[in-house]
Amino acid sequence: MEFMLDTANLEEIKRYIEIIQIAGVTTNPSIMKKEGNIDFFNHMKQIRAIIGFSRSLHVQVVANDFEGILKDARAILENIDSEVYIKIPVSKEGLKAIRVLKAEGIKVSATTIYTTIQAQLAIAAEVDYLIPYFNRMEDQNINPVEVLTNVATEIERAKSTSKLLVASFKNLRQVNASSNALAHAVTINVDVLNAAFAMTAIEKAVGDFTRDWEASFGKGKRIFNL
Ligand code: E4P
Repeated sequence: MEFMLDTANLEEIKRYIEIIQIAGVTTNPSIMKKEGNIDFFNHMKQIRAIIGFSRSLHVQVVANDFEGILKDARAILENIDSEVYIKIPVSKEGLKAIRVLKAEGIKVSATTIYTTIQAQLAIAAEVDYLIPYFNRMEDQNINPVEVLTNVATEIERAKSTSKLLVASFKNLRQVNASSNALAHAVTINVDVLNAAFAMTAIEKAVGDFTRDWEASFGKGKRIFNL
């Protein structure tokens, strides 16, 4: 499974690409807001400089109308780089713009997916990534696992190359459920990521091994300085 970072924070990105095999970075206007008053294009270029071109960078449009979405997409590609995945919500205007951009060979991530039909329409438009919102579906009393399973089935049936990139996580249960539902990728914020390591049992096991080792070989001794 691909793991992506759902953040635009430069320090977080620098730190976590060294710890985790990160496949990409996803952003949206709400994530950008957390970075305060920044120079948008310059900030995005800094993210690209950190992650390089072997990882994907997903940047969301802000306009909601067809023409505006196309203009936003072109501005992103011109001022950041031509490899950016343009994140576009699957609305009527969004789909119309997605089809134009895909016909031009531009990378597109279809976002704000809450329903199977949105995903099916995006698959038909041959998008690169489909981004369903796990936690937000639960908030709407929609069963996310059912939607993800339907989408995975449609990808298989249509022999589609669109990848299922699940987003909007508040906890690891939701990440595990997405993995079980055959997500190709997940994008996770640092708080949820940290929860993967924040387990007393893990810390205790590591501490016990160190104590036992030192009982045999001496306090502070390590294998490298035997
Ligand atoms: C990422 O691509 C999504 O926009 C993001 O995960 C949404 O997260 P939220 O539901 O916590 O805002």
